[in-house]
Amino acid sequence: MQDTHSDALVFFGATGDLAFKKIFPALQAMVKRGSLTVPVIGVAKAGWGIEQLRARARASLEQHGGGVDPDAFAKLTALLSYVDGDYADAATFQALRKALGAARRPAHYLAIPPSLFGQVVEQLAQAGCTQPGTRVVVEKPFGHDLQSARALNAILLGSFDEEHIFRIDHYLGKRPVHNMVFFRFANALLESFWSREYIKSVQITMAENFGIQGRGAFYDPVGAVRDVVQNHLFQVLANLAMEPPARTDSESVRDEKVKVLKAIPPLRTADIVRGQFTGYLQEPGVAPRSKTETFAALRLELDNWRWQGVPFYIRTGKSLPVTCTEVVAHLRRPPALYGGGDIDHNYFRFRISPQNEMAIGLNVMDEAERGIGQTNELVASRHVGPNEMEAYERVLTDAIAGDRTLFAREDYVEEAWRIVDPVLKADTPVHAYAPGTWGPDQAAQVAPPEGWRDPDPGS
Ligand code: BG6
Repeated sequence: MQDTHSDALVFFGATGDLAFKKIFPALQAMVKRGSLTVPVIGVAKAGWGIEQLRARARASLEQHGGGVDPDAFAKLTALLSYVDGDYADAATFQALRKALGAARRPAHYLAIPPSLFGQVVEQLAQAGCTQPGTRVVVEKPFGHDLQSARALNAILLGSFDEEHIFRIDHYLGKRPVHNMVFFRFANALLESFWSREYIKSVQITMAENFGIQGRGAFYDPVGAVRDVVQNHLFQVLANLAMEPPARTDSESVRDEKVKVLKAIPPLRTADIVRGQFTGYLQEPGVAPRSKTETFAALRLELDNWRWQGVPFYIRTGKSLPVTCTEVVAHLRRPPALYGGGDIDHNYFRFRISPQNEMAIGLNVMDEAERGIGQTNELVASRHVGPNEMEAYERVLTDAIAGDRTLFAREDYVEEAWRIVDPVLKADTPVHAYAPGTWGPDQAAQVAPPEGWRDPDPGS
């Protein structure tokens, strides 16, 4: 095993929701692919033993992991052990040190609320579980504003170097998100029009046709901007707007992403419209008069050489008509032809989910031959192959292997908070919208000049 490879994986929160929905399925897939061969130690305070954890892993695979693979599951259970105990109790961490045995460079994955990070990191250090080469892997949200993100980073940096801190944004583990960068720089065609010379506006929509799915206690203090805009959708934006990196190592790539965020001025209150679906206040865990947004539409500028003057729009919401994430970049209009009416914009469309699709909207002559044309799409679409990695498998594999490319760096996270901080603190109005609609009418106030293009995953 290379010495950049972690020699054990410890995951805190082993009996929790994230482990159940995402981590066990990722672990089985990793074992199957041969990328997980080191001991895996679950830690939680549930009063459980290893048999209960195994049963939990089995149920997780049945419900969320596409079923139990007998071979891979047998290997996974042979690697799996469990430490039960309170995170405030030093004995829990002594037991962990013992369970780690000969492992000297573990990866500690904190799949727990950020409020517990400080305590766990301190206990790990005291128990001798943070020797050089040890990694810490943390889940979003990285703080709830710039100040708390800095405080969180200070806690982590107290025991780990930045190069050993892996901040997960699972969106980066999605192949279509990864593919955006590849697609941009592997196709000279796209690059030829990918700038302010030809692009008029760019819009990103992340729509979900479900509500908060019983996650009220998590979601209510957070809201859409913190839950998906500041992290997932800014990563999409960075992939769309970044310059080609000088080299493909993780820091060269991450440098380019930070530069995108540095070019974005802080949001003004006029740049955002927030919404809340009717019925949200009745969800368990939601405060009775909560003003948390379940929908946000916003306008951003990138004040740099490539994009100055091109507005970028982001829209996301729960309980919208469909589940789909899509980018549409409208090109400037061609001049009117033969004295006819306005010809439509060409556009480039990039669908991230439910399927990966790249399309160019082109004008061909309309049936009535009125010289205005009609838009047809040239579509390239790729379906998920049977061996494709899920996002969590990809990010956990990379964390164990020590590849930082798909993780958010400290400066990136702080820049992202800098942009949204003023509007998070501004208490802008929250407009009601009916579930199953495209958000409040007021979203039109920050709509692209070409209008919001509502994705249709059935198309
Ligand atoms: C999570 C958010 O980070 O991402 C959820 O907390 C959101 O609210 C989810 O639904 C979307 O991710 P995916 O992979 O299901 O598209």
